[in-house]
Amino acid sequence: MTLLKSTWLALLASAGVALAQCSLPSTYSWSDSGQLANPKSGWVSLKDFTYAPYQGKHLVYATYHDTGTNWGSLNFGLFSNWSEMGSVSQNGMNQGTVAPTLFYFAPKDVWILAYQWGPTAFSYKTSKNPTDANGWSSPQPLFTGSISGSSTGVIDQTVIGDDKNMYLFFAGDNGKIYRASMPIGNFPGSFGSSSTIIMSDTTNNLFEAVQVYKVQGQQQYLMIVEAIGANGRYFRSFTATDLGGQWTPQAATESRPFAGKANSGATWTNDISHGDLIRVNADQTMTIDPCNLQLLYQGKAPNSGGDYNKLPYRPGLLTLRR
Ligand SMILES: *[C@@H]1O[C@H](CO)[C@@H](O)[C@H](O)[C@H]1NC(C)=O
Repeated sequence: MTLLKSTWLALLASAGVALAQCSLPSTYSWSDSGQLANPKSGWVSLKDFTYAPYQGKHLVYATYHDTGTNWGSLNFGLFSNWSEMGSVSQNGMNQGTVAPTLFYFAPKDVWILAYQWGPTAFSYKTSKNPTDANGWSSPQPLFTGSISGSSTGVIDQTVIGDDKNMYLFFAGDNGKIYRASMPIGNFPGSFGSSSTIIMSDTTNNLFEAVQVYKVQGQQQYLMIVEAIGANGRYFRSFTATDLGGQWTPQAATESRPFAGKANSGATWTNDISHGDLIRVNADQTMTIDPCNLQLLYQGKAPNSGGDYNKLPYRPGLLTLRR
């Protein structure tokens, strides 16, 4: 009988054996799945993926744009293997939500879907059954502030918690990354209206799609931010030891990025754009396994152009080469 490595690790972990952990690599190199799904009839793009494991399967929410002028969100039917993503259902949400962030808030046993372009700067909905795209609560305020020097306003939220606090990070398409926080006992709730600029650079270098993760087995957090490069969109990475602390550039150039044309292995897209790392569990800690890093991203055909709203974004999955 052959036991999978993951099975052995699970057995050792359940026996309380301390396991050697991976570190984040200093140089990233990926293999690519190719395009994983096409939008269903009536839609032209699938974007802004957010991921959580659910009952041993993959649960993905995303943004779509239709053939007209509308943005909205969807979930995909549960699937076990990424090769099935293109054949499961795409279930539109009946209330406008865009650029969703999905996670399970363990302290209150409730699922959260945070998003932009709702009734407040950022909003959230709650649910007990995240597989039901239309089983979410009415919108609640997540953040009510505004920012200056941005033509989009606040954009692309993400939420992460440690033992004491919940943190909101977001972008502004303006070279700045912003942070707000609240005691974890107050969540779900509003972060209020004030935020702190925690990073500043050129607009292209800190554009949008910020995501923040806990690195499993390390006292380390990983932030990725989408940048605009000479050869397409790419992700830069930063690390910190504290969610409220300073971020240090890690793989942060277009020629040696976290993920981009230079290292993705993808041939169907030059752009490695807004998405989510595959998390080890669904909870608010946003924990990733540095031994098994995968990035669900949006890409598009290199020669596509025209109306930004209708660019033909599709999902793809990068897997770190070790
Ligand atoms: C996923 O599907 C692919 C293609 O059908 C197959 O080669 C692979 O073995 C499957 N992976 C798992 C873990 O079942």
